[in-house]
Amino acid sequence: MTQWDIEDITPALRDSPPDRRNQVWRNWYDRLVSQLDDSDYRFMNYGYLGLESPKLEPSDEANRIFIELYQVTLGDTSLTDKDVLDISSGLGGGAYWISRVCQPSSLVGMDFSPEVVRLCNKWYGGQHNLRFVVGDAEALPFPDNSFDVIYNVEASHCYANYDVFLREVFRVLKAGGAFCWSDFQSRTSMGKIETDFENCGFEIVSLDDITDGVLRSLDSVHKAISEGKLDGKQIIWGNDTESLQDVIQEFAGGGRSYHCCNLSKKNSIGSRI
Ligand SMILES: C[S@@+](CC[C@H](N)C(=O)[O-])C[C@H]1O[C@@H](n2cnc3c(N)ncnc32)[C@H](O)[C@@H]1O
Repeated sequence: MTQWDIEDITPALRDSPPDRRNQVWRNWYDRLVSQLDDSDYRFMNYGYLGLESPKLEPSDEANRIFIELYQVTLGDTSLTDKDVLDISSGLGGGAYWISRVCQPSSLVGMDFSPEVVRLCNKWYGGQHNLRFVVGDAEALPFPDNSFDVIYNVEASHCYANYDVFLREVFRVLKAGGAFCWSDFQSRTSMGKIETDFENCGFEIVSLDDITDGVLRSLDSVHKAISEGKLDGKQIIWGNDTESLQDVIQEFAGGGRSYHCCNLSKKNSIGSRI
């Protein structure tokens, strides 16, 4: 996410021990979000554009790229009447869309930035099956076996201890539950992600490289801004076109890739919810 003045914090990140890194990210997100009270931003991801355009409500069209990233992350997982957790829900746009369209019985959006959680509770307080809480992905504030489905979109690159995060997800997921994950990483670290999942006890149901769809999303925004059809300020990362070009280049050149994975925590008879 170089495009969000992350240069300000990368030296601090590079020089910090893992535990300190979480604090650095928290301060950075709190600072970013403290300027957003009256803004229209509801998503903080790069988006995804599939080859077919799934049907959306007209009011959701403006957020198509972001919503499609949530759709591809969830894959075939049914959320109807389920207890669901969104880890690192950010500005809550994904959780809000899912709470309306996928009809979970309950959906908890959790983020470690108190400022972001305050905004989400203010914006989406009227949605009956949705609430937002403060919490750390590496120390989830929930009892064991709490959720049927857990998802996590474009956030795990911030976590200092990826394996601690995975163990926490496994702990709070019910037996037979599903975990849907997506994020970008360098090609090298992506190579070991399957082992990380399996070492935690998850079974991999599907693992897909979705870099092309993410690139289509980034390209579409870049093109729309260049042609004057979109004001870069309408997208949280669209303002700085030079940095946007760098990100596109990194994905297109193969230095960075974006994957999504559907995982299952087998129950005693080995089936998935
Ligand atoms: C790039 S944003 C993605 C937000 C959202 N999933 C979306 O797609 O719009 C990353 C989010 O991760 C959150 N985050 C970073 N580290 C975290 C941690 N250790 N525990 C919980 N949330 C964290 C940040 O506060 C931020 O809201």
